[in-house]
Amino acid sequence: MEQKLCFLFFFLFSLLTSSLVAVDSRRIPANITHTFNVKKFGARGNGRTDDSKAFIEAWRAACGSYGAVRLEIPSGTYFVGPLKFNGPCTNVSSITVQLQGTLKATTDLNKFKNPHWVEFGWVNGLIVTGGIFDGQGAVSWPFNKCPKQMHCKVLPTNILFVNTTNTVAAGITSINSKFFHIAILSCTNFKGSNIKIRAPKNSPNTDGIHLEHNSVVTLSHLTIGTGDDCVSIGQGNSDVTLTKIKCGPGHGISVGSLGRYKDEGDVRGVLVRDCTLTGTTNGVRIKTWQNSPSPSTASNFTFDNILMNDVDNPIIIDQHYCPYSKCDSSAPSRVKIRDIKFRNIRGTTMNPEAVSLLCSQGMPCKDVTLQDVSLKYVGEGGGVGATTILNSKCFNVKPTFSGTQYPPPCR
Ligand SMILES: *[C@@H]1O[C@H](CO)[C@@H](O)[C@H](O)[C@H]1NC(C)=O
Ligand SMILES: *[C@@H]1O[C@H](CO)[C@@H](O)[C@H](O)[C@H]1NC(C)=O
Ligand SMILES: *[C@@H]1O[C@H](CO)[C@@H](O)[C@H](O)[C@H]1NC(C)=O
Repeated sequence: MEQKLCFLFFFLFSLLTSSLVAVDSRRIPANITHTFNVKKFGARGNGRTDDSKAFIEAWRAACGSYGAVRLEIPSGTYFVGPLKFNGPCTNVSSITVQLQGTLKATTDLNKFKNPHWVEFGWVNGLIVTGGIFDGQGAVSWPFNKCPKQMHCKVLPTNILFVNTTNTVAAGITSINSKFFHIAILSCTNFKGSNIKIRAPKNSPNTDGIHLEHNSVVTLSHLTIGTGDDCVSIGQGNSDVTLTKIKCGPGHGISVGSLGRYKDEGDVRGVLVRDCTLTGTTNGVRIKTWQNSPSPSTASNFTFDNILMNDVDNPIIIDQHYCPYSKCDSSAPSRVKIRDIKFRNIRGTTMNPEAVSLLCSQGMPCKDVTLQDVSLKYVGEGGGVGATTILNSKCFNVKPTFSGTQYPPPCR
């Protein structure tokens, strides 16, 4: 039985990977001028000896070259510590990191000076395709105190993109990260597609993709099952488009948490469209902290055509966010939420309170609209002949409703 399942799995997996390779090859520039293979730099790819040095040397050679260059990581399992693939790569027009192999992270936390495992930074025209990034996080999850303590040591993120411009990440897989899977920070023009992310439902802070301080980010065709948000859009982002995301298990697709730190950047222009959430704790969520030290704005968000399958909280704005039992006080959030549209949201909810819009008493939400919301209760006592009535809760917000509304509008 088990062997049959395994076989099926490998069969499906090879089908999947072959289709991904086809997708990827279109991403790779046709005019590559120089190729640098990590094996030529001494990488063993045997899954045991530390190949970090070879990877860094191969990157340095590629980055120091000119034209359209490629860093090649052939099939094999490469055991590596923290890797910094940093630029600037002055004379390089594009740098393609083409992975066929698996990178396997060290489990020795002492090896990490910064909380990142594989870092790509300060480059223009970076293309990362293929490969599996295995964070081997299970060993370190018990050391993560962040879900319970506000001041905590953050564990390494599997893949960090920082300060890159014109980046493509396609066909990559990230599994069992120690902390976040992928973080995208201070990047301009980032395109991610065909990305697979997987960690157990109960793994702490294993957010799929976290965004902060970026402009123009498009993420599409993602399959994410993890222990925290599938995608979290943090402070300082503008023009973010998320489409065709399959999320679950996990905490859903979130904007936030916003308003935790001083002088946070605004979040402007978010479009989330054609996504499916399955068995997640939230569907689409905006969350902001109480006691925000500075004011900021979150505006112009559209959530359109979202299918919920057995989701706990399908539509939720929570401006009273404080995950720790002891937050300093409870001053209202100073994040202004403006111009938010929920459109064509359907499927099933585990919680009768399927729409929950809890805005700040200091800064009521403005211009929130719900159009065509159709949810069915399938929690305890739900199903055929169920008498449980779905409801909406609204605090400090007067939403505009149109089209179908189930649950019925709050008043
Ligand atoms: C870039 O190319 C120019 C012209 O060939 C050369 O002078 C310069 O040293 C190169 N820069 C780097 C960082 O290699
Ligand atoms: C990104 O680069 C800009 C300009 O070089 C710099 O001002 C900024 O601090 C960098 N961001 C990070 C996160 O390093
Ligand atoms: C709202 O955001 C979208 C991107 O998601 C952008 O195209 C549009 O121009 C923005 N509208 C306003 C009024 O800023």
